[in-house]
Amino acid sequence: MSIASEFSSDQLVLVGVGPGDPELLTVAAVRVLKAADVVAYPIAHEGAEGMALAIASRWIRSDQRLLPLSFPMVTESQPRIAAWRQAADVLAAEVRSGNRVVLLCEGDVSLFATGSYVQLALRRHHPDVPFALIPGIPSVCAAAAAAVEGSLDLPLAFQQEGLLIRPCPETNVELIALLQSARKTSTVLGLIKLGQRWSWVRPALEQEKLLDRALFAQRVGWPDQWVAPAQAVPDDVKPYFSLLLIRQQWPEVLP
Ligand SMILES: C[S@@+](CC[C@H](N)C(=O)[O-])C[C@H]1O[C@@H](n2cnc3c(N)ncnc32)[C@H](O)[C@@H]1O
Repeated sequence: MSIASEFSSDQLVLVGVGPGDPELLTVAAVRVLKAADVVAYPIAHEGAEGMALAIASRWIRSDQRLLPLSFPMVTESQPRIAAWRQAADVLAAEVRSGNRVVLLCEGDVSLFATGSYVQLALRRHHPDVPFALIPGIPSVCAAAAAAVEGSLDLPLAFQQEGLLIRPCPETNVELIALLQSARKTSTVLGLIKLGQRWSWVRPALEQEKLLDRALFAQRVGWPDQWVAPAQAVPDDVKPYFSLLLIRQQWPEVLP
């Protein structure tokens, strides 16, 4: 039986809602959302907009209770640990009150996701609270699909190739080393958290003669989506929701 059809009271489901387009929620995600009493969602601070909530809003009714949970985007560990613990406590209390609860997560629920911290905090501090995960479409997969709208083809991986999804390195030296290692190992790169780094990443790609082998994708699935070859994108600061796909080589045998 599927997670969605088993969703009963006293349960929590962590749901990946995909990168932006409400049509990219899975059938299971929509079914669980429709059955939920409480819809929890992450925000960066009090009063902030929730991206995951905005993505899922088409599927939420006015009689469902919304529960914003704050996860500050800071480097210090203590505020983040406190927020994960607080979120786990609040969600556990909702479940113990007999509610069907979902926690929305942008993209996939296990890939660089707030939901993963909540998952670990629940397991550690509330082992009696049952929960399930529903995966979502990751932004890198949605970017590869969106590229086709502009007649750009960048399949993520073929045959023996690798695919490495990771945050963009912090420095030029680290990025060049990563590009060289990916080239040697036939690995396609999906670099997330690109935004502020793009202004120095672009010149690095140019230096490595990779501008025509990289795809830039910003706010995939949103009305202002922009997906373009890297060489068409000026080297200014980009939004947090931007990423890069880099395919340095292609298999020898292709259609
Ligand atoms: C914390 S990670 C979340 C990843 C998400 N769980 C996923 O499965 O794609 C945030 C980063 O993912 C990328 N990202 C997420 N959604 C995106 C979108 N709609 N368009 C472009 N990049 C996106 C950006 O690089 C952003 O900095």
